Formats: sequence, C-alpha cells, structure tokens
Amino acid sequence: MDVEALEQAALAAVAAAASTDDVEAVRVEYLGRKSALPLALREVRDAETGKRLNAAKQSIETAVAARSDELGRAELDRRLDEERVDVTLPVGGYERGHLHLITQIRREVEDLFLGLGYRVVDGREVESTHYNFDALNFPPGHPARSHLASLFLDAETVLRTETSPSQIRTMEAQQPPVYIVSLGRCYRRDTPDATHTPTFHQVEGLVIDEGIALSDLLGTLDVFMKALFGQERRTEFRTHYFPFTEPSVEPYVSCHVCDGAGCSVCRHSGWIELGGSGMVDPKLFEFVGYDAERYSGFAFGLGLERIAMLRHELPDLRELWRNDLRVARQF
Ligand code: DAH
Repeated sequence: MDVEALEQAALAAVAAAASTDDVEAVRVEYLGRKSALPLALREVRDAETGKRLNAAKQSIETAVAARSDELGRAELDRRLDEERVDVTLPVGGYERGHLHLITQIRREVEDLFLGLGYRVVDGREVESTHYNFDALNFPPGHPARSHLASLFLDAETVLRTETSPSQIRTMEAQQPPVYIVSLGRCYRRDTPDATHTPTFHQVEGLVIDEGIALSDLLGTLDVFMKALFGQERRTEFRTHYFPFTEPSVEPYVSCHVCDGAGCSVCRHSGWIELGGSGMVDPKLFEFVGYDAERYSGFAFGLGLERIAMLRHELPDLRELWRNDLRVARQF
C-alpha cells in the first residue's frame, strides 16, 4: 500500500470539497471503518509502518476538520445572509380598535351621573328570586316570574331580568342619603329579533333622601335625556305601572331624527320612550328597614341598547354582537 499516494489523494479530495457534505463524503471514503487506511492500521505488525499509517491518518483528520470548519462557517454566513429580515421595511398602517358601542354608552352614562354627584355601584348578574322579584314587590304569579319569561338556574336563582335588584342591595347596605346608578347586563328569555336580544344592558338609578319629590325625578331625567339626545330636545312623562314605584312614569324624549314631526325611528309618533321610572314604593322601605315617614325617593331604569339603537339609528340590535368589522367600524 502506497501510504504517501493515499494521503496525497485524500488531502487533494479534502481541498477540492465544495461543501460540508463533500467533506463528510471524503472522510467516510478515507477514514471510515471499512476504508483502506483504518483496515491497514488494524492489521499492522511493525512499529515503523504503524507510525507512518498513524501520521497519515492524523494528517487527513486534521485536514478534514479544518476544511469542514471553514466550509461550515461559510455556509452559515450564507444562510444568515439569505434569511435576513429587513426590519426597516415600511408596512401598511395598523388599524386601532376601540371600545364596543355599549361600553362607550355605559361610560358616558356613568360619567354623567358621577358629574351629578352619584355613586356607581355594582350589582349581581346571578340573583336570588328574593332580590329580583319579592323585594321589588312583584306579586306571586307575575308573568316575569315564569320560566317562559326569565332564565332560572334553580327555583330560587335567576339571571337578573333587570338591574333593579341593585336598588334593594344598596338600601340594605347603607342608610340614606342614597344617590347611585348601577349599570350592567340583564337577561330575559326573549327570541332574538331586530329589537330584542336575550342579553341586554340597563342603567338603574336610585335616589333616597329627605324631601325627594316627583319633580326631582322629572328634572333629573330631563337633564339625562337632553345630555344623551341634544339640549334642544323636549321631554315628557306618561303615567305607567311598575310593582316597585308609585306613581310610575315613562320618560319620553322628542325624536332627535324628525324633531317630533314623525319618522320611522319614533314610529311616526314624534316621541321616543326610554324606559321606566317612578317614586320608590314605600313598601320597599319596609323590606329594607328605612323610615318611610322621613325618607322618599325615585328610581329609574333605562336600556342601553335602546339608547344605542335610537342614537345611531341601528336597524337591527343583533348587529351589536355579531362582531362584523364593517359594522363595528361605524361606531
Ligand atoms: N326594571 C324595569 C324594567 O326592566 C325598569 C324600571 C322601571 C326601573 C321603573 C326602575 C323603575 O328603577 O323605577 O322594565
């Protein structure tokens, strides 16, 4: 075996390798377990030959390692270069999101009443029938107590059908004077259509103090409705009935679209009804232990979806929750 020639051939092959894969192929060819040099080394008998073979093996190993290193670095550089991301490249502008329309209205209403000196209190979406019905003076057999109208979790627990239970919880927790609003989600077993969603939002208001009269309620709602729909609006109140207020009135605002002339938004009546209100029925004071001789008060409850629908002339309330960006972008 011509060790000299073998070594030269191996070194030439290493030098000619153009990639780390080529180098590896050369290594297998000259240093692999079944190649000539290692086989010869295994069978060597005299020290002189052994020395020469080992020297050749080491020389090839060194050349392989050096060439592999060199080519490996070049390959890495090339890859880094190819995969470089130009972070200075300009991209299209980002579209900023915004608060949901109902959240915007909720905050606007809260700000308005905070400005009038009211406190904002939380209520519970899961309520006992005591707070949702009994303490609000709903008589036994009232249709709202039915499984067909309300969503019950069990016989004594219901997803609140209105924010009014927060009136009772507030009165139980503190003595007058009370000036609070409470906003949040309510639930009714309604089939969704253009003007109904089974989940909706209300703002509840409650004022209890000495000497509170109906005129205080009318004045407060007048300020509220004009803040929402424009200072040039007119307001009006029509008698109604609710179990927890006596007397009860429904607040109306002159239509902001036609200014009272009649249009589709006000259903050609010139007026828009915003919810319910009234003087707190003294029966509620009995339930919570307030002195009905000393204190009187008013309460109101209005739908936030209704405000949104009227202000923005939404043709279909369900669009508020469909998350269609083309609709969401409008508000
Ligand atoms: N809770 C009533 C409803 O959901 C609205 C309402 C009426 C609330 C009169 C009140 C009130 O606080 O005094 O239809």
